[in-house]
Amino acid sequence: MPNAFISGTGFYVPPRVVTNDDLKTQYGIDTSHEWIVQRTGIQERRFAEDGVGTSDLALPASRAAIQAAGLEPRDLDMIILATLSPDCCFPGSGIYLQRKLGLCDGPKARFVPALDVRNQCSGFLYSLGAATSMVKSGACKHVLVVGAETHSAALDLSTRGRAVASLFGDGAGAVVVSATEEDRGVRSWHLGADGRYTEVLAQKVWDVSKRPFIPVDDKGVGQVQPELMWAQMDGKVVFKNAVERMIGALMELCMANNVTGTDIDLFVFHQANLRINEYIADHVGIPKEKLVSNIQRYGNTTAATIPILLAEAEQSGRLKRGMKVAMVAFGSGFTWGSALVDW
Ligand code: UT7
Repeated sequence: MPNAFISGTGFYVPPRVVTNDDLKTQYGIDTSHEWIVQRTGIQERRFAEDGVGTSDLALPASRAAIQAAGLEPRDLDMIILATLSPDCCFPGSGIYLQRKLGLCDGPKARFVPALDVRNQCSGFLYSLGAATSMVKSGACKHVLVVGAETHSAALDLSTRGRAVASLFGDGAGAVVVSATEEDRGVRSWHLGADGRYTEVLAQKVWDVSKRPFIPVDDKGVGQVQPELMWAQMDGKVVFKNAVERMIGALMELCMANNVTGTDIDLFVFHQANLRINEYIADHVGIPKEKLVSNIQRYGNTTAATIPILLAEAEQSGRLKRGMKVAMVAFGSGFTWGSALVDW
């Protein structure tokens, strides 16, 4: 059975920077730089322009990862794309990405399977687990795994929505998971979900138990109430569960691989709140220099946080061949996951 290793990483964030002060001055939100920084660590985020969707952000990130792996798009055997902000209701964003990568073009078209994963902040680790299994089983040699989000289109950028809108940003990260006979790669992955908390962080813009699924006016035009249109979150419940589940997921990972924190060279945690990650690091004794973060610059990019961190760490030289990397995520669902990789 081959091992599955990460053969290339890439990321893309849109150029437009939106600072905390911009939320106040450009959008008229009653907030402050101090409030957001103190509670979350976020200083700024990126917003994509009108007309740019999730597969558009995923494309440059994917191209970078494929190139870093020394491959062409046609070498891929499968695409897995994790997002909670797909281009549209259906079909999935992975299929748009397949076309944008040129895989449908010409006589050498490769109509590889394209799978969308809907596990929010844990979506990348769910996807990494699926890709690893595909590669280890021998079904695929190279799987493109992408986390991409265009949150800015679905944030209530008003004072009413400030508790959620100030947290999120747009971006995409990608890795290629490839087969190898070398003794390296994804050592184990662990996933979990707790369906008791489905209401605590959710965006219920439509409800297919209702007829029709979106209320319509007398002209047949859909009408969505603000509490359904925008994501709703009980931040304190999410915070408490994030800390507990992420520590649990990290412990499970260490026990499964018979390693301790000192054996791990780099901790790559989901970026929901700098305070959550620093609390976990203090609690389990992780030195600050082993923890990477980018929430200060990008906010919470949901499924994209971990692959963006991996790509940035590789590009800056902080992540090198031979290092042991622990990844942990938690988010809406609730869902969570962890993975250990010998880079
Ligand atoms: O990746 C998805 C997972 N998400 C998370 O992990 C998020 C976890 N939760 C959190 O990070 C924190 O709960 C938040 C940062 C979201 C909020 O911090 P908090 O300390 O729990 O604040 P709060 O929601 O209890 O709000 C405290 C006050 C409220 O005002 P009142 O009711 O006390 O008058 C809010 O309306 O802060 C107000 N507030 C704001 N004020 C200025 C909420 N958002 C803002 C804002 N600017 N952006």
